[in-house]
Amino acid sequence: MTNTTAAATGMADAPPTRIYLFKRFERFWHWSQALMIIIMFITGFEIHGTYAWLGFAQAVNVHTLAAWALLALWAFTIFWQFTTGEWRQYLPTLKKADKMVVYYLWGIFHNAPNPFKKTQVSKHNPLQRLAYLALLAAVSPLIWGSGLLYLFRAYWPSAGVDTWLSLQWVAYAHTAGAFMMLVFFFVHVYLTTTGHTPTAHIKTMITGWEEVEPDHHP
Ligand code: HEM
Repeated sequence: MTNTTAAATGMADAPPTRIYLFKRFERFWHWSQALMIIIMFITGFEIHGTYAWLGFAQAVNVHTLAAWALLALWAFTIFWQFTTGEWRQYLPTLKKADKMVVYYLWGIFHNAPNPFKKTQVSKHNPLQRLAYLALLAAVSPLIWGSGLLYLFRAYWPSAGVDTWLSLQWVAYAHTAGAFMMLVFFFVHVYLTTTGHTPTAHIKTMITGWEEVEPDHHP
């Protein structure tokens, strides 16, 4: 697939007006993961006792089902990331991180240009890379580790786990992970609205194509 409409129309030296950023599997993975995580929020906070809607037993069933579905999706996604080499998009860097902080705190409210120019080989700005790394290295292990311990609590006595761990601590850890995920979710959704129009980034994640300024020089 060509990466520019300019190339697609044969106008070899015209600047690209859009770039193909997200491949089909990536978009499928993104939206199905989003759906699964929203289901986990809704059912998880019902299990927690924040509100009553499906009923406790049903909420536990749906929560567990979504966890297994997410696990299967991640298995495919990890395979995809490594076979395509796309995992490199998540390697952390501090290059231009300071400029991005200034942009998010000030520039974005004063029409300053975004200091980071996306390309097919570098889709995430340095702050995004750091946020995704924190999610992958800290929040996910916390939520998955505690979730799996919660799920297999019936086996604790035979494995001797109940001699050093209480269910209450697992519940605290899991709930803390859920709140961290909630913070990530709200920041993530806010940042989707910061493209050249409020829905531009969302459209990119639906179609795969990102519109770029004529002076887009990565
Ligand atoms: C975005 C991801 C997730 C969120 C937001 C979330 C949220 C929650 C919350 C808020 C609770 C109630 C905790 C309490 O008050 O004790 C809960 C319970 C639970 N979660 Fe999750 N969770 C997520 C992922 C997972 C995963 C990946 C697993 C499994 C591997 C899992 C398994 C469980 C289990 C087994 C329970 C307890 C159900 C019961 O009481 O029988 N969760 N979750």
